[in-house]
Amino acid sequence: MTAEEKDEMIVTPWEVRGKVDYERLIHEFGTLPLTDGLLQRIEKHAGSSHLQLRRRLFFSHRDLDTVINLYEKGTKFVLYTGRGPSGPVHIGHLVPWIFTKHLQEAFKTRLYFQMTDDEKFVVDDDAKLKQTTKYGLENALDLIALGFKPENTYIIYDVQDIDMLYDIALEVAKHITYSTAKATFGFQESTNLGWIFWPAIQAVPCFIHKKLTGENVPALIPAAIDQDPFWRITRDIAPKLGYFKPAQIHCRFLPGLGVGGKMSASEPETAIFTVDPPEVVKRKVWNAFTGGKGTIAEQRKTGADPSVCSIYQYFLFLFEEDDKKLLEREQQCRTGKMLCGDCKKELTERLNKFLTEHQKKREQAKNNLEKYRIKR
Ligand code: TRP
Repeated sequence: MTAEEKDEMIVTPWEVRGKVDYERLIHEFGTLPLTDGLLQRIEKHAGSSHLQLRRRLFFSHRDLDTVINLYEKGTKFVLYTGRGPSGPVHIGHLVPWIFTKHLQEAFKTRLYFQMTDDEKFVVDDDAKLKQTTKYGLENALDLIALGFKPENTYIIYDVQDIDMLYDIALEVAKHITYSTAKATFGFQESTNLGWIFWPAIQAVPCFIHKKLTGENVPALIPAAIDQDPFWRITRDIAPKLGYFKPAQIHCRFLPGLGVGGKMSASEPETAIFTVDPPEVVKRKVWNAFTGGKGTIAEQRKTGADPSVCSIYQYFLFLFEEDDKKLLEREQQCRTGKMLCGDCKKELTERLNKFLTEHQKKREQAKNNLEKYRIKR
């Protein structure tokens, strides 16, 4: 039986399955919900409201208030996020990156972006290091294509840049016991050593700014909530090493085009990759799971259910900026005025428009990869 069938929820940094209950995650992970007050403070600094915030796609945090308090008193922060390059980037990955760019522009901060080719190598029995490293460079093109500026965006490629990370990783690792790591990540007797040490590496960019610039400031990490276990252990040890605890702002997962779960590269027919050509996008969207009824006549009569529809989620997360229009779409769906074919057609158009542009910028990024490296 699958997790979906058992109604089970599994959310770890390396596995997300079943129907994700975000309220329950706040409770189980011990994070805080994003309040209206906090949201307004971010909007005040940004001078605008971002759809991912006002729709609560970012819904939970740790110490976001602390970071904003410090900022208002003159202590800046840096942003940190990352990517495990196990394959091509799909549009679910872009969701937190788009928001990160918004924060970067709003607060004029530096971003450290970690490309974890080492992580993907140690956690997957079949992975080849050459391949994950290659994906790292390819995935960086997607980040750059979103418009991050090289002046304040630093991409860290773990394997190539390990000389810069290793001393901090050792300090971190020395302060975390095996029993803590085991309890946090569920390590077993059969877990390989590389994997057991690896969380120390994900902690490094939280602290690296001090080493590079001499400035001791906190890091704020926008990321999907599955990464939270890393930050729990990092936060515990940060003060012992003389750093601020890293703060987080957590987002939901963009669902795949199938039933439940998150968009996953391991189910390619239900994921839209950034390099997909228009016909492929059309086919995938056409075959997507919706909240529609068996026949048109029935749907016209009783309406459909946007709350379970994968297509609707894409408008919500990315492709309908206008809240009024989103609400209209929802109502027209519920009342049977709009059919699934209509939504699929519109989504395909919007996706392909976005992807055509993105693919062009991605090509251009190939000449600029070096500009985003940390200079020694
Ligand atoms: N572990 C993440 C992954 O597998 C990659 C990552 C490294 C990351 N550092 C991060 C993600 C910081 C978010 C924030 O995808």
